[in-house]
Amino acid sequence: MNTQEPKEKVVLAYSGGLDTSVCIKWLQNEMGLDVIAMLGNVGQEHDGLEKVAEKARMLGCVAVEVVDMTEEFASEYIARALAANAMYENKYPLLSALSRPLISKHLVEVAHRHGAACVAHGCTGKGNDQVRFETSITALDPSLRVIAPVREWDLGMRPDEIAYAEKHGVPVCQSIEKPYSIDDNLWGRAIEAGALEDPWVEPPADIWTITADPVDTPDIPTYVEVGFAEGVPVSLDGEELPLSELVAKLNVIAGSCGYGRIDMIENRYVGLKSRECYEVPAGLALIQAHKALEDLCLERDVLHHKLALEQLWADQVYNGRWFSPFKQALDAFMAATQHAVTGTVRLKLYKGGCTVAGRKSAYALYDQALATYENDEAFDQKAAKGFIDIQGLSIKTWAMREAACLKGGASAAPTVDALHGAPGTRAVGRALNC
Ligand code: ARG
Repeated sequence: MNTQEPKEKVVLAYSGGLDTSVCIKWLQNEMGLDVIAMLGNVGQEHDGLEKVAEKARMLGCVAVEVVDMTEEFASEYIARALAANAMYENKYPLLSALSRPLISKHLVEVAHRHGAACVAHGCTGKGNDQVRFETSITALDPSLRVIAPVREWDLGMRPDEIAYAEKHGVPVCQSIEKPYSIDDNLWGRAIEAGALEDPWVEPPADIWTITADPVDTPDIPTYVEVGFAEGVPVSLDGEELPLSELVAKLNVIAGSCGYGRIDMIENRYVGLKSRECYEVPAGLALIQAHKALEDLCLERDVLHHKLALEQLWADQVYNGRWFSPFKQALDAFMAATQHAVTGTVRLKLYKGGCTVAGRKSAYALYDQALATYENDEAFDQKAAKGFIDIQGLSIKTWAMREAACLKGGASAAPTVDALHGAPGTRAVGRALNC
């Protein structure tokens, strides 16, 4: 008769790397848990997810779930990011920040399917990803317990971790000596640490794998036409493609033209600045194209206020608040703006650069008849005077009062100097204090 209590189960987000492999052993040995490994495909580079799954089984996982999330990543995460032209600090297109809530959602689903009370991730205590996993998991099931072994174990230094790995039969291959910390998915690659920690050091050539060095790219420009339907890219050079395929294909086209590299100092949510490099060829090209189409199709006030809300959207997602009421409300605003963002943008890629060479839409608010300087039938230039007089009335009233105060008489006219902030202005300020 088996008198042993059944062990509690934990679902671990498993990548196959050293950290998450050691996590399996640590959860089994130190926490006494049965480990279920979940392996998510979000379009990252890999040499066979089945091989990774086999490694998890070899390490004693009681179950392994390989979940293909690529389509969902494109349609639910990348598409929303694009609607919001999402760029944290106006530079970083949020690639890692987008995948974490999706992986969290599947961790929670796997935990429910297996009756597990705990989930675990392999993030350190110094990064943003721990915040994103844990906040997302809490939002989806506040009753689940989250374990972060790397944050809790006393294997802080690499040699200690390797010693633990060797003691517990975790294969330690040479490739773990990779000098950088890398995270990648369909939207791009993030590279940090190693030589990059010195912000004065130029990124070594070997960090870039999906973008060519612009020096080595073709001497003639490459043009590509991106078709959008309601804000979502749907075709490349007239060929209709599912979003995931379109992004993958554009990564190759733009990357081979040397486009898509970012080297920045970034403010992490946990309070420190870090030096980050990214390769996001398709992402940056699509955001640029999408913005160009919005310029053509969105009404002025919608466009202007959207710019401000885009920053808030990016901050929310960067800070791990994908599943939050505010982010959902922002999504609703973004969605409400996209129905007319339908048309085509022509991009010109050349030696590490990408420019918009043309844009067209059946929903354009741009009206050539109104904009042209050639003939004036559609725009009544004489009407402009009344518009300027009325919109400037409050300025005029203010200027006259300032001038009167300066001169000490109600009827005096303001000096040109005073109105232009030149020497007279200080005197105006003083006069008003009296
Ligand atoms: N700094 C980025 C972010 O917080 C990327 C982090 C990616 N992780 C990595 N191991 N390189 O979203």
